[in-house]
Amino acid sequence: MSRGPALAEGVPVAALSGVAVSLLEEDMGSGRLSRRQFAGRVSAAMGAVLVAPEIVRSVAGARQPKGVPENVVQLNSNENPYGPSEKARAAMTRSQAVAARYPDAFETQMAEEIAKLHGVPAENVVLGCGSGEILRMADMAFLAPGKNVVVAEPTFEAVLGYARVTRAEAVKVPLTADFRHDLPAMAAACNANTGLVYVCNPNNPTGTIVTRDELAAFIDRAPKSATLLIDEAYHHFVEDPKYASAFDWMGKAPNVVVVRTFSKIYGMAGMRLGYAVGTKENIAAMRAHVIWSNANAAVLEAALASLADANHVPRYRKLMNDTRRWLCSELKKDGRRYIPSEANFVMIDAGGDVKPVIEAFRKRNILVGRKFPSMENWLRISIGTQKEMEAFVAGLREIVPARAGKAA
Ligand SMILES: Cc1ncc(COP(=O)(O)O)c(C=O)c1O
Repeated sequence: MSRGPALAEGVPVAALSGVAVSLLEEDMGSGRLSRRQFAGRVSAAMGAVLVAPEIVRSVAGARQPKGVPENVVQLNSNENPYGPSEKARAAMTRSQAVAARYPDAFETQMAEEIAKLHGVPAENVVLGCGSGEILRMADMAFLAPGKNVVVAEPTFEAVLGYARVTRAEAVKVPLTADFRHDLPAMAAACNANTGLVYVCNPNNPTGTIVTRDELAAFIDRAPKSATLLIDEAYHHFVEDPKYASAFDWMGKAPNVVVVRTFSKIYGMAGMRLGYAVGTKENIAAMRAHVIWSNANAAVLEAALASLADANHVPRYRKLMNDTRRWLCSELKKDGRRYIPSEANFVMIDAGGDVKPVIEAFRKRNILVGRKFPSMENWLRISIGTQKEMEAFVAGLREIVPARAGKAA
């Protein structure tokens, strides 16, 4: 499967990468791979490095990846357009020296660093080839025929894609009128067969959060037999003081598993690394489905360097949130309706079917988010550089005259 722009309107690109999709198509029983299969996976993950355009463009002499038009503006996958920190880039370069060796020692070190960061033992941490693999592991560990997974509608769909393979039932709970998770309704939708509840906080595609109080009440009310998978891919962008990470419940609510990724604020979507933290029992159940040696040496070196770079997260949170605020002020000037977001993307009311709008942007060499079922008139736009957002706003003013998107 290509990771090129053609996927912009199909499956979420970052969620169902070539590596992950191939797993859906293969036997998932054992979680073991032959050395040849493993080598294929690693080269796929390493190959992904070559198609991250912002990284490619910033490296002198780098080639333009095939299938990616020259100067395309990619506002479709909620990435950090500035890429990894300088320290992470240096670490990637360094990793060439260890490319011949299996990355086991880096993997152990990475799990230990994450454990230290979150104040848990390393056995409570599992690494994934992106957090996409983490979602798959959770589905494999906690779902089966006869079980169900409770999710918001709409939310990030990868967890449902993998759940289909387990033949578990999907229970979709609509968002509230203000486009937020309806946690009381999600708790009420659970039953004795609920294996997993997926809460994406902030939610993709709406950028809305659930508050500390809402999460507390939900964790209290949801069945203890269900694993509560809290996906915090966009955690680092949140500024609302009412928000709380589910890490606050670590050690108190044994059914909580928290998911994080290096694909968003850390700017390494092309490198593939995510992780989950939970009880050692839940993590062991997930680890049974891990791809052996799923994190390559380059990403591990880079992620370790990222964690050690204290400036990276605050710097890009401010920069990208400022750009989002600028975008929202322009939308407001036009009288457009949009959903206030705590993440690096914004949902904008397109005033009608979003499909032709997406097409019109594509013709202008601007890739925007795909159409989301149940929000068919809404356009999801990722936060790019200021210049990219100015190009987007200019395009929007031509494609969707302001009155079409105005609030009623
Ligand atoms: C909420 C959420 N979770 C997980 C992912 C998967 O990201 P990755 O596999 O790159 O960590 C994404 C990607 O867009 C996402 O939006």
